[in-house]
Amino acid sequence: CERQDSRASRERLLVVANRLPVSAVRRGVDSWHLEISVGGLVSALLGVKEFETRWIGWAGVNVPDEIGQRALIKALAEKRCIPVFLDEEIVHQYYNGYCNNILWPLFHYLGLPQEDRLATTRSFQSQFDAYKKANQMFAEVVKEHYVEGDVVWCHDYHLMFLPKCLKERNRKMKVGWFLHTPFPSSEIHRTLPSRLELLRSVLAADLVGFHTYDYARHFVSACTRILGLEGTPEGVEDQGRLTRVAAFPIGIDSDRFIRALELPQVQDHMKELKERFAGRKVMLGVDRLDMIKGIPQKILAFEKFLEENPNWRDKVVLLQIAVPTRTDVPEYQKLTSQVHEIVGRINGRFGTLTAVPIHHLDRSLDFHALCALYAVTDVALVTSLRDGMNLVSYEFVACQASKKGVLILSEFAGAAQSLGAGAILVNPWNVTEVASSIGYALNMPADEREKRHHHNFVHVTTHTSQEWAATFVSELNDTIVEAQLRTRQ
Ligand code: G6P
Repeated sequence: CERQDSRASRERLLVVANRLPVSAVRRGVDSWHLEISVGGLVSALLGVKEFETRWIGWAGVNVPDEIGQRALIKALAEKRCIPVFLDEEIVHQYYNGYCNNILWPLFHYLGLPQEDRLATTRSFQSQFDAYKKANQMFAEVVKEHYVEGDVVWCHDYHLMFLPKCLKERNRKMKVGWFLHTPFPSSEIHRTLPSRLELLRSVLAADLVGFHTYDYARHFVSACTRILGLEGTPEGVEDQGRLTRVAAFPIGIDSDRFIRALELPQVQDHMKELKERFAGRKVMLGVDRLDMIKGIPQKILAFEKFLEENPNWRDKVVLLQIAVPTRTDVPEYQKLTSQVHEIVGRINGRFGTLTAVPIHHLDRSLDFHALCALYAVTDVALVTSLRDGMNLVSYEFVACQASKKGVLILSEFAGAAQSLGAGAILVNPWNVTEVASSIGYALNMPADEREKRHHHNFVHVTTHTSQEWAATFVSELNDTIVEAQLRTRQ
């Protein structure tokens, strides 16, 4: 049935990402419950109207039996999704291991794992082998569903080996690759034992995209310094073949957030929150519970602020939503206990019988509750140690049309390059600086808040996710046309 769809008049876009935009829960031998997760990428791709989109990815569950697999394929087909089945061992080595214990921290400047160098070196190779194997499995599924003319868009650090695997299977495939994390300085990338293979493989794509100009520049430098290739204003050249490299900053579907604020259930949530925190300023953090998000540092800065400003102690509350993530990776488990320990200590120190300064939630909120929370917030704290872009900052701004709250934003988040003029930029490692920025934000006069908010609101509502996706895909098509013209000359 997938193949019959290929005869439809619109071109097809095959989006390949580690995770499908649905989560699957097994309800019986051959029955599945699917829940759509409307993340940034899903809403972005709704904007690519001229293409018919199919998703290829891992459904996040182990399905060892054929009956279960067949039933899941059928259920997902209705959502235009195609699963890649990864067994537990591959998930452990590829996803928990190479992706989330090696590439993720390295790309966010936290370095390679160091606890036991010998063990790491030994397991490194097997994790990289599993990474390549998983990427080959993705490539096989793409090949099976690919129809001539399809555009294939690969996403993120999980699939750096995929462009090469795809071109080996079909040289004519139009392949784009986009990285959602930072690409680090070439000096960081060169510490990675598989540095050459990964760079070469990404270069097999026709277009390579990053959130910011700096990440694109770091990638080109890595190719010139580590591979000895030539960097040009358009990208990287290898024996006459050009890989286009450019920045495509992502955005959000801002209308979805703005419209949600009018809904009665969101208004009700807002009313409840306002009553609950009446007389106190609300500060908000919304992060996946990940070491790159700088949650301990943020909470320590809040502690310092309370320490230095006793007059604010019962007038401000920090709501920290910390969404659990990658809970099988030991580093993430350690972080959870560390954050709990710090929050407990500070609440013990500054709490009273009736109020605590920090409300920490280890879970996600539904969309409507989140919009309400953004809307009643006075100061948002986005203090990632590194972050590819950080769309929480965009979501906050979209929901602040009436309140015009202040955004404190890490200078190491990609978003600092677009929202820098409206936000208060901070170095998240500098607890003293963040603490004094909290004071500045809480005391900011209304006209300054308005000016800063206006700058950010205009940006967030004009640089949307839909525009991001449409620009990348059309650039990919143009790149291929130009390459064809060059080879004909
Ligand atoms: C980051 C990555 C995404 C990933 C997401 C959630 O934003 O760039 O590719 O999907 O984190 O992480 P998870 O490991 O749960 O997919």
